[in-house]
Amino acid sequence: MFYRPAKAYINLPALRHNLTIAKLLAPDSKVLAVVKANGYGHGICRVAQQLAGADAFGVASIDEALALRQKGFLHRILLLEGLFSEVELPLAIQNRLDLVIHSEYQLQWLLNYQTTSVINVWLKIDTGMHRLGFSLECVSGVIQQLQQNLNHFNIHLMSHLASADEKDSVATSFTKNQIKQFNKICQPYHFSKSLLNSAGLVHYSCHTFDWVRPGILLYGAGQTASHLKPVMQLESKVIAIKWVQAGEYVGYGNQWQAKKETCVAVIAIGYGDGYPRHAPTGTPVLVDGQRVSLIGRVSMDMIAVDITAYADSVHIGSLAILWGDALSVDEVARWAGTISYELLCGITPRVPIIEIQ
Ligand SMILES: Cc1ncc(COP(=O)(O)O)c(C=O)c1O
Repeated sequence: MFYRPAKAYINLPALRHNLTIAKLLAPDSKVLAVVKANGYGHGICRVAQQLAGADAFGVASIDEALALRQKGFLHRILLLEGLFSEVELPLAIQNRLDLVIHSEYQLQWLLNYQTTSVINVWLKIDTGMHRLGFSLECVSGVIQQLQQNLNHFNIHLMSHLASADEKDSVATSFTKNQIKQFNKICQPYHFSKSLLNSAGLVHYSCHTFDWVRPGILLYGAGQTASHLKPVMQLESKVIAIKWVQAGEYVGYGNQWQAKKETCVAVIAIGYGDGYPRHAPTGTPVLVDGQRVSLIGRVSMDMIAVDITAYADSVHIGSLAILWGDALSVDEVARWAGTISYELLCGITPRVPIIEIQ
């Protein structure tokens, strides 16, 4: 029994549907479903179960990979940042994990270890993002060292796009250049290759290579790809209603002042649940299906909205949707000056998750 009305509903069929869309966008490629950060806040094992039709999973750490192995997932699992320490290597091999190597120290760990197991290594190449990856000049040397080692490495080549979700001409030409660099550096090699994240898959789907790596798209957010279904709906209820007069304030810091008589509804959701504290006045909320505006500061457990236009119908217990099917998490994120990824990952443990089968 959950007494507080704040709840996150997870639409399981939507996950499966979004995977189908990803497959349609890259019909000739394998799909590595990115489920790191607890499945972008949706629950890693829950998500993996629905995405079992993917060819592999992408995670950020061995802990996440082991959570999947312990639940019996036999898929290939790629550690997207590779190992953080050398001691993880035997564990990674024992659990048949695929490893990104992005830096010299990780390469040395692999070269110095002795194993009879074949290790799937994903050589990360920096094509311009300048976050992780070997520089273009280093690539052939790294490949040579891997090939000459006594261990058997099954090499993959990968890179990551920095701005595939931005459509202005500067970003577009930057992305095109990353694609060009990746094509060029990969050209002499017959290894499996992977470049595209969700935005890449949507906007540059003629460069799918052997593997695509969608994340946010699978959760029905972040993208303009048609037919995606939002997976998470964050809901709560109205717990107080009051009228305030012109000149009166609402919320902490007296940040919002009524210009005219206003009907205010208080909803049981706040930053303690993962609703963004930076969401400003004006951020949309759906109350009984009607778009209303947030007013004043977000508190830990509550927000206030202006329901003047619907004062006759909204009541204690009215349903409030913070994001979901009819109000995209991306729109709320834009209002709050962030991205949907952060909002989805930021749902806190006190919010009960309810699965929609
Ligand atoms: C290497 C790599 N590939 C793919 C993804 C998935 O990205 P997105 O969620 O934008 O599809 C990520 C996520 O950050 C990543 O780090």
